[in-house]
Amino acid sequence: MLEVDNIQVCYGNIVALQDTSFRVDAGEIVTLIGANGAGKTTSLRSVSGLLPLSAGQIRFEGQRIDTMRPDDIVRLGIAHSPEGRRVFPGLTVAENLELGATPWRKRSDRIDADIERVYALFPRLKERRAQLAWSMSGGEQQMLAVGRALMGRPRLLLLDEPSLGLAPIIVEQLFEQIARINQLGVTILLVEQNAAMALSVATRGYLLENGRIVLQDHTAAMRDHPRVREAYLGA
Ligand SMILES: Nc1ncnc2c1ncn2[C@@H]1O[C@H](COP(=O)(O)OP(=O)(O)OP(=O)(O)O)[C@@H](O)[C@H]1O
Ligand SMILES: [Mg+2]
Repeated sequence: MLEVDNIQVCYGNIVALQDTSFRVDAGEIVTLIGANGAGKTTSLRSVSGLLPLSAGQIRFEGQRIDTMRPDDIVRLGIAHSPEGRRVFPGLTVAENLELGATPWRKRSDRIDADIERVYALFPRLKERRAQLAWSMSGGEQQMLAVGRALMGRPRLLLLDEPSLGLAPIIVEQLFEQIARINQLGVTILLVEQNAAMALSVATRGYLLENGRIVLQDHTAAMRDHPRVREAYLGA
């Protein structure tokens, strides 16, 4: 479904990704794990068309997308829930979700049904639909960020560190919903520093270090790998 081939991404003269390749097949949850600054966010922003490549290619369902504009990439069915949630603080939960419905759709075009689908996944959002986003807890804001991304009816969902700053119990609940979203037919590329959680929910994983993929495998094998255990699972 998604093929990232030998991409290089630079910020000025800093090389953030070098010869980076990974793929996501339809139906999978694939995770990119790695420490601060490894290049995880850069990878997702490249897929979304927010950063230019200096080498390599990205294809979605066989079509090159690395030369396309971000809004055209959204239209193809790729949604991005960014690092740090980025919900609109002064808008309500319901308004945030409405804004997630892709711009070319008319307001009446089943947006209400899509909002109800998000509420079914995250009942807490329904209870708080009239609450302003800034006043929500970190976990609730993360639910909102994921819900807003789902409003574009994506086939591929990019999630950047959904666990960031959340208590372990909340992270577990959120990851149950991420698995559920996948079961409902959405393919997921999940970026995480929380390697234990990410490797528990994903089918395959890639380890990024200093802008390079240094390891890739099924998640069961990654969990047993000495490098992953020592540096990322605290074993
Ligand atoms: N806008 C920018 N300008 C310059 N350098 C940047 C910029 N954004 C990221 N970088 C650099 O690119 C590298 C990769 O950053 P990136 O944000 O992709 O890492 P990350 O794996 O998402 O880290 P974290 O876990 O902290 O979110 C880092 O060295 C970072 O300093
Ligand atoms: Mg990041």
